[in-house]
Amino acid sequence: MSATSLQHDVLIIGGGAAGLSAALRLPDHLRVALVCKGDLNEGSTYWAQGGMAAVLDSSDTVDSHVADTLVAGAGLCNPEAVHFTVSHSRRCVEWLVEQGVDFDLRHGASSEFHLAMEGGHSHRRIIHAADRTGRAISEVLTERVLAAANIDVFPHRVAVDLVTHEGRCEGAYILDRERDRVDLFQARAVVLATGGASKAYLYTSNPDGASGDGIAMAWRAGCRVANLEFNQFHPTCLYHPKAKSFLITEAIRGEGGKLRLPDGSQFMHNFDPRAELAPRDIVARAIDHEMKRLGVDCVFLDISHKPRAFLEEHFPTITSRCMELGIDIAREPIPVVPAAHYTCGGVIVDTAGRSDVSGLYVIGEASCTGLHGANRMASNSLLECIVFAESAAADIAATIAQCPPPQPAPPWDESQVTDSDEDVVISHNWDELRRFMWDYVGIVRTNKRLARAEHRIRLLQDEINEYYSNYKVSNDLLELRNLAMVAELMIRCAQARKESRGLHYTLDYPELLERAEDTVLTPEAPGADTPSIAR
Ligand code: FAD
Ligand code: SIN
Repeated sequence: MSATSLQHDVLIIGGGAAGLSAALRLPDHLRVALVCKGDLNEGSTYWAQGGMAAVLDSSDTVDSHVADTLVAGAGLCNPEAVHFTVSHSRRCVEWLVEQGVDFDLRHGASSEFHLAMEGGHSHRRIIHAADRTGRAISEVLTERVLAAANIDVFPHRVAVDLVTHEGRCEGAYILDRERDRVDLFQARAVVLATGGASKAYLYTSNPDGASGDGIAMAWRAGCRVANLEFNQFHPTCLYHPKAKSFLITEAIRGEGGKLRLPDGSQFMHNFDPRAELAPRDIVARAIDHEMKRLGVDCVFLDISHKPRAFLEEHFPTITSRCMELGIDIAREPIPVVPAAHYTCGGVIVDTAGRSDVSGLYVIGEASCTGLHGANRMASNSLLECIVFAESAAADIAATIAQCPPPQPAPPWDESQVTDSDEDVVISHNWDELRRFMWDYVGIVRTNKRLARAEHRIRLLQDEINEYYSNYKVSNDLLELRNLAMVAELMIRCAQARKESRGLHYTLDYPELLERAEDTVLTPEAPGADTPSIAR
């Protein structure tokens, strides 16, 4: 079947919290295309457990949420972006409620939300739907998007690269996985909402698909990226041979859960006065330290002091998943390990989600807004998705009438490539990349480890680029190519930082420098028009 070319006003790539909200926030006279790699609920959003941070309690304030975020971010947050995000939090919660999201209420209350506590927060401010907040948000927004007459949803489509003309983004080439062809989608504004890149690591809480596609595409199109050395490791993912990527929410520690060594002793108080409620970088590093010191495979998170009924009410997903695996969390501690969880850096954008390339907006985990600095505070990312989806949509609505219509662009060219003869090259390189990123660019780094990683990524990239030039694209090949690109950017950012700050900890520079600076990378040949990047 031959490829097609589609025209819309706005193209949104990504169907998580950021992409879905942006689609719904756009005025309904605009025709919107929303594409995603699989079904609409397959991104990280669907799996979010703990909830969304917002200033809702009468004893809480915007200033307090801002101050906590700045502390967690270890001096590297952009205060303007933090204030912008936090001051929109209440409004965004109200919008989600209007859409139909059912957040938990306090016991016996008819309109007061139950607010959970998480690391780094000085108040209870996490609004949630038990321990399946992401699912509650995702399902409601998906239903709304599917019902919207102006939004065309294209599932099972993988964006390959952006289309640019004279420095302006005018669409994307998109692989149709079912028809096995690459179509051209054109639009006057393009929104990347493609999520993070934690699949670069061997152990991750993220679902398949978190391969940093949007970051890699934006970089190839000429956007600067920043702070990719700050990949967050969630301290507590379930350690069990049958559990692939299952998170144990930080809200368990918020309810008094204690971390224990295999002999039952507690250890977090040796690392930070806030103990289990210290920011994530500190908790993850403490666990990593203890695991290495004792040569053990995991530590334990103990919430067994809480009554079973409480656990079943507040943490139904975790209680039942653990029980399926033979762990009764009301009676015994949960085996946990840290795993790659969140990409704090990304494509540099302003408070309207605008990137360096005109017509291209980047929102959600793919972006670097300045909110997270060197370490994201728990539950600030769903908030960021919803806030920046609103501001990007408002900017598009206000400016789209002045945007030129897209210029004709050539169809995807497959005349020089054939079907792959050896897919093992892809699976082998996937495994190799994720293993050395874990070993060399993980929780604790050194110059030597980073140099090893740099050497290996160059070898892998040569092989991947050669493969990409000779064979037809597939989802696995595209993800591998993007992961390798983002891994290279992560390594370069890590090498550039000559200090230990937030999530970036290196034995060669254990001190914190006085001056906090972003690590900014600029593409060498930005803005080359698209057809040349088709192959
Ligand atoms: P995602 O939800 O990841 O969606 C990305 C979308 O982009 C998907 O639809 C995907 O198919 C699509 N996509 C990607 N690449 C392409 C491509 N090339 N072509 C087409 N489509 C593409 N944060 C909180 O604030 N609170 C929490 O409680 C919380 N819990 C979490 C628990 C888990 C297990 C995980 C993994 C994360 C959690 N986070 C939490 C982080 C938060 O969920 C994510 O940062 C956020 O949901 C990201 O939303 P997003 O819209 O940017 O991307
Ligand atoms: C969690 O529930 O622990 C995850 C929260 C987050 O990543 O923000």
